[in-house]
Amino acid sequence: MCGITGYIGDSQAAPILIGALKKLEYRGYDSAGIAVLNEDGFTIRKTKGQLSVLEKKLENETISGSLGIGHTRWATHGEPSDINSHPHTDVSGRITVVHNGIIENYLSLKEWLQARDVVFISDTDTEVIAHLINYHIQEEAREKHGLLRAVQKVLARLEGSYALAIAATDYPDRIIAVRKDSPLVIGIGRGENIIASDIPALLSHTRDVIYMEDGEIAVIYRDHVEMLNAAGDRVIRPVFHVDWDAEAAEKGGYTHFMLKEIHDQAAALSDTLRPRLKDNEIVFEEPGIDESFEGAERIVITACGTAWHAAIVGKYVFEQLARIPVEVDIASEYRYRNPVQGRNDVFIVISQSGETADTLAAMRLAKKNGNRILAVTNVVGSTLAREADMKLYTRAGPEIAVASTKAFTTQLMCLYLLALKLGRRRGFIGDEDYKEYIQALSRIPSQAEKLLAKQDLIQRFASQQFNKAKVFFMGRQVDYAIGLESALKLKEISYTHSEAFAAGELKHGPIALVDKNTLVVTVATQKRLFDKIISNIREISSRGGASLVITWEGETVFAPVAGEVFAIPRTEDCFSPILSIIPAQLFAYYCSILRGNNPDKPRNLAKSVTVE
Ligand code: F6R
Repeated sequence: MCGITGYIGDSQAAPILIGALKKLEYRGYDSAGIAVLNEDGFTIRKTKGQLSVLEKKLENETISGSLGIGHTRWATHGEPSDINSHPHTDVSGRITVVHNGIIENYLSLKEWLQARDVVFISDTDTEVIAHLINYHIQEEAREKHGLLRAVQKVLARLEGSYALAIAATDYPDRIIAVRKDSPLVIGIGRGENIIASDIPALLSHTRDVIYMEDGEIAVIYRDHVEMLNAAGDRVIRPVFHVDWDAEAAEKGGYTHFMLKEIHDQAAALSDTLRPRLKDNEIVFEEPGIDESFEGAERIVITACGTAWHAAIVGKYVFEQLARIPVEVDIASEYRYRNPVQGRNDVFIVISQSGETADTLAAMRLAKKNGNRILAVTNVVGSTLAREADMKLYTRAGPEIAVASTKAFTTQLMCLYLLALKLGRRRGFIGDEDYKEYIQALSRIPSQAEKLLAKQDLIQRFASQQFNKAKVFFMGRQVDYAIGLESALKLKEISYTHSEAFAAGELKHGPIALVDKNTLVVTVATQKRLFDKIISNIREISSRGGASLVITWEGETVFAPVAGEVFAIPRTEDCFSPILSIIPAQLFAYYCSILRGNNPDKPRNLAKSVTVE
């Protein structure tokens, strides 16, 4: 996720672009840049680091020009650096582009351009767009609509998701904006127009906006906008008046970043999965991943907190799908014991931030002992990503709320892809099963969306239960792992005492705590264990505890024993965690609100634990 903007009008563009980028910084903050056009061509200033670094750079400089585009980046291709920052230009420097999204076929396009002697400067997928426009614009002889036609030809060659703002020195009266599967809105001003990835960036200029539809292209002039639909036909789109308050708008209309990020999950899961599926086959664009398990005899996974819970799910999944032994350890434990490591262990490290001190220390220890390190992380260019031998990126986009949500589910998606690929290579998954698993994964983003549409049910349940003194989560196998993650979510933002246990452990101790002030949430997706889980729930109810069961849609066995049942869409049993965690995230969120807390900033907690 990145933020893009563009301005054309009578005012100086640079301060307006910076102002807009400030409002978009929540979409990405590892680098930023602007390009402003005047009679001498483009002035481009871009830099690694937060927007404040760019602002500092511009402090003693006046950049004149009343047309410009800007970008705040969250790296996906190429680590954060000055060179990889946007805007990107073609070889002539006459075309500049900012991009939010992923060009899935950029490698083949890059090779095609390189075969035509185009020299690339950055490692980004975006740069191909600038070069391709330059290539196709040669065919247009600088006609009135030459830039538009060149852009249309380029779009026909792009696969993936993108919102683009494009400017060219030969067309100084316009910006071209394009939207496909990434958001883009046009703010309609008086004698000026401004585009941005999100409404908050427009609000200090105008509240009249056009929401671009997928596949649409807009040619933005200072005094009017021309729009074309995906078929290339001119369309007139309605202008909406936005009356959101500016702060709510920054969260996309959600009251908190956490709620927004819970809702981001459908898109984040799709962004993590889609670029890695080609013709029903899992293909990792990241170098070395396919070979990383060659000759592996064991997998060791370490992480902290939520990422550790993803690792526990990973253990069950690797063992089931790839029949390989897996050991999981908390990074802070691993680093201080004297682990027995095999030379043929593959060491997977999971971390949203890629900067967690204990996780880095565990990774360094394993590296020193000669293990291959595969990092699953959300932050391109993080310490973990730089030091690991191989990296697989979650494409969750920036996670602002302290409590991790979309990072967790995208970590699970990455682990599923790895386990499926490995299971196939090791001969434990046949053709038909592989196809079915891939189809099941492909349905997950829309199933997550369907599930999120039922959030009112969880909100209502939370309003009845938020004052419980104790909340326990139980489950078996992957459901136990989801219990652990659910309990962590609830305790960290609602400050309710919550614990998780493997349901089989109930009688070994935890049941002593169950009374009428206890809520027990059971995650039940492993059908072969339903009878045992039903007995566990009965034991809770007979001691006065309230009970909620999270299980599959259409499953009727729990209604007679549980107080409440919440249904999730059906998928393969081992993929259930990616869906069953969503109601628990929502439950934690609503309990936090009902208890008067700020779920985005829980007490005593920091987003990234970079010290021990
Ligand atoms: C919980 C949470 C933390 C992190 C943990 C590891 O909601 O966010 O438990 O999961 O601090 O952080 P990363 O994944 O950045 O290494």
